[in-house]
Amino acid sequence: MKAAVVSSFGAAPRYEEFPAPVPGGDHDTVVDVLAAGLHPRVRSQATGSHYTSTGDLPLVPGIDGVGRGPDGLLRYFVLPDTTLGSMAEQTLIDTRRSVVLPQDSDPVAVAAVMNPAMSSWIALRQRISFHAGQDVLVLGATGNAGQLAVQVAKLFGANQVIAAGRSADRLAALPALGATATVRLGGDDAATRLGQAAGDVDVVIDYLWGPPAAAAMEAVITNRADESKPLTWIEIGSVAGPVAAIPSAALRAARLQIVGSGQGSVSPREIVAELPGLAQAITGGTFDVDARTVPLADVEQAWADAASTPRRIVLVPGA
Ligand SMILES: NC(=O)c1ccc[n+]([C@@H]2O[C@H](COP(=O)([O-])OP(=O)(O)OC[C@H]3O[C@@H](n4cnc5c(N)ncnc54)[C@H](OP(=O)(O)O)[C@@H]3O)[C@@H](O)[C@H]2O)c1
Repeated sequence: MKAAVVSSFGAAPRYEEFPAPVPGGDHDTVVDVLAAGLHPRVRSQATGSHYTSTGDLPLVPGIDGVGRGPDGLLRYFVLPDTTLGSMAEQTLIDTRRSVVLPQDSDPVAVAAVMNPAMSSWIALRQRISFHAGQDVLVLGATGNAGQLAVQVAKLFGANQVIAAGRSADRLAALPALGATATVRLGGDDAATRLGQAAGDVDVVIDYLWGPPAAAAMEAVITNRADESKPLTWIEIGSVAGPVAAIPSAALRAARLQIVGSGQGSVSPREIVAELPGLAQAITGGTFDVDARTVPLADVEQAWADAASTPRRIVLVPGA
């Protein structure tokens, strides 16, 4: 079969022949892949830099997707850490890590949105006790996951949703998605503006980490009207850097709790538990979807484009 194949961690995947999968375990099934999202997590998988990387090559990238099995059912699936990912004509799924979709679902929309939406959906449902009426800051709200975090927080009943991000254009679109305020990151007065807008939030959903997260933490903590009010900081992404210098005073001067949410801190069982509800929200049209479809055969070009396009690229075998 044809697949996107990574033969060296320094190079983009190439469209090549790869051995077709053979089912082994009781819950295994081979699906024809209809759509697979090119998420940041997939790019780090393909460079061997993700914290789950085993270093095994060659590998087919892709951590999730939408496919149809021999039973004719349409499924969204999440793959384990394996060298046969979803960017192939066929892949091997464990049906226990999948959810059956309505037959008229749009595979591209589901493949584009599940991963970025899952980041905040699972964090708010599985990593903390979020409840309606709480105020949320989304740090890094201009990316795909950040835009969806604004929508997920609103869906879960957040009171204020403050969206902070770098791109002025993309920030401007966020009130229509549910943001009650926006803060542009950058410039000498960014910390002051962030502190004024978000000093009293209950929860921070952080996609940035790195220096902007450390600066934002200081801005929020030094602007709290009530220092004893709990503040939960959920670390989800690290687009601005893998390390953040957290001032020790931040942990003493406010009731700050820092938690992470991702593969490892959330178990496969907890992830699977959230798939039906999230899939239903996506297929029901709850979220704004901005995807670009690219034929799997053009995977090298898709890789080159991924760093510069804000739209989520979805690879489609057979297109
Ligand atoms: N833990 C999980 O469960 C989970 C799940 C999904 C994603 N993630 C992680 O979440 C992060 C975001 O994912 P995504 O799908 O939203 O990626 P994305 O669509 O590529 O968006 C990334 C955004 O990051 C912003 N950015 C990059 N560098 C920045 C900086 N120095 N300061 C401020 N903003 C910066 C850019 O915004 P501008 O346009 O404003 O420059 C860009 O739009 C990634 O690290 C991803 O791996 C984690």
